[in-house]
Amino acid sequence: MKKTINVAIVGKGAMGRTHSASIAMLKYSFEDLPFEVKLHTLVTRNKETARADADALGFENYATSFEEMLKNPEIDVVDICTPNNLHLDEIRKAVEAGKHILCEKPLGISKAQADEIMSLIDGKDKCYGMVFNNRHLPCIMRAKQIVEEGKLGRILSFRSCYRHSSGTDPEKNAGWKQNKDICGAGVLFDLGSHVIDLLSCVLGDKEENRIKEVKAVPQIGFETRKGADGKEWKTNAEEAIYVIATLNCGAVGTLEATKICVGANDDFTLEIFGTDGSLKFDLMQPNYLEFYDNKAQGTPVGGYKGYTKIECVNRLNDIIPDSVLPGMRAPIGWLQGHVNSMRNYFMCVYEGKTPSPSFADGAYVNEIMELCLN
Ligand SMILES: NC(=O)c1ccc[n+]([C@@H]2O[C@H](COP(=O)([O-])OP(=O)(O)OC[C@H]3O[C@@H](n4cnc5c(N)ncnc54)[C@H](O)[C@@H]3O)[C@@H](O)[C@H]2O)c1
Repeated sequence: MKKTINVAIVGKGAMGRTHSASIAMLKYSFEDLPFEVKLHTLVTRNKETARADADALGFENYATSFEEMLKNPEIDVVDICTPNNLHLDEIRKAVEAGKHILCEKPLGISKAQADEIMSLIDGKDKCYGMVFNNRHLPCIMRAKQIVEEGKLGRILSFRSCYRHSSGTDPEKNAGWKQNKDICGAGVLFDLGSHVIDLLSCVLGDKEENRIKEVKAVPQIGFETRKGADGKEWKTNAEEAIYVIATLNCGAVGTLEATKICVGANDDFTLEIFGTDGSLKFDLMQPNYLEFYDNKAQGTPVGGYKGYTKIECVNRLNDIIPDSVLPGMRAPIGWLQGHVNSMRNYFMCVYEGKTPSPSFADGAYVNEIMELCLN
C-alpha cells in the first residue's frame, strides 16, 4: 500500500488553485510514484463559501482557521499560497506544529524575515521547500545540464527579463501585489524573485555565481491608480525595475522585471553568454532551448556555427521519470513546471531529503532583492 501524504493548502487564489490542480495531476502524470498526495484541507477565511470552495478544488475538508488546521495531526504538509506578508507568521506556526512546509515565492517580505525563517527551521528535520516553478521546466533542466557540462566555458555575461503588460491599463485597480506593505515591494518581489532564482538555478547555485553587487533603477509608470476599493490610490511600489548585477566570478549582466510593458504576456527570458557558448531561454517558446556552440566548426562557408534550437518539449532529461500525461513528445505548458515542482517537493518529503529549491534558496533571493532596494 502506498504512503499517503496529506496536504493543507492555505489560500484559494490563483496559486491555491494552481497547486491544487498540480497536486491532483501527479497521479495522472507519473505512473510509479511510491506515494499519493491527498488534498486534505483547504484553508480559507470565507465561512460562507468554504465548503463549496473545498469541493470545487477537490479537497476532502476545509478549515477557516489556520491555527485549527495546524492542530490536525493527519496533516503532513502545509502549502502556503497566501499574500507575501503572511508567510513569516504562517511558517512560524507551521514549524512549531512540526509540519513540512512548501512556500510560494518570495519566502518573506524582507531579508530580515527570510533570516528569521532560516533560524526558525535551523536544526529541524522537516522538508521546507520553495515554489520557484520555472526551475522545473524541461528546457531549464536542459540549460542547467549544458552549463554543468561546461559547454559555456567561463561565464561572461547574462540578461534576464520578466515582462507582463498587466499594469499598462491605468484604469485597472491596484491589487495587493502592487502594495509594498503586503507584497514587500512591487514587481521585484513578484516577477523579479523568479528572475533572480532562475539565474542562480541555471548557473548552479555555486558561490562564484552568486550576485555580489547590484545597481538597480526602479520605475513607477502610473503615479496614481484606483485601489482595491475603487478609490484613488497612490502607487507605493515599483512597477518596473532594471538591475545591473555583478557575480562573484566577475560576470556582469542585467535583470529586469516589469508589469508595464505593452505587448508582453508571460515574457520571461534568460540569456547566458560564456567564452565557449551561449544559451537562450524564452518562456513563450518553452519547447526549445537555443544553444550556440562557439567551438563548432566555422568553415567552410560558415560550417556549423549558429544557434541550435534544442527541442525540449516534455522530455525531462532523466531528472524526473517519463510523464505519461502530458506525454514526452507533448509541447510544454506553464502548468507542467508546477506539476514537476510538486513531484520534486513531495518526493523529498517521502525520502526525507532537502528539497531544491529550499528555504535557503528563498533566503538568497530575499537577500538580493534587498540589495536592489538599497
Ligand atoms: N510561482 C508562481 O508562478 C506564482 C504566481 C503568482 C503568485 N505567486 C505567489 O503565490 C502567493 C499567492 O499569490 P496569488 O497570486 O495566489 O494571490 P491571490 O490574491 O490570487 O490569492 C491569495 C489568496 O489568499 C487568501 N488569503 C488572504 N489572507 C488569508 C488568510 N489569512 N488565510 C487564508 N487565506 C487568505 C485570499 O483570500 C486569496 O484567496 C504569493 O506569495 C505570490 O507571490 C506565485
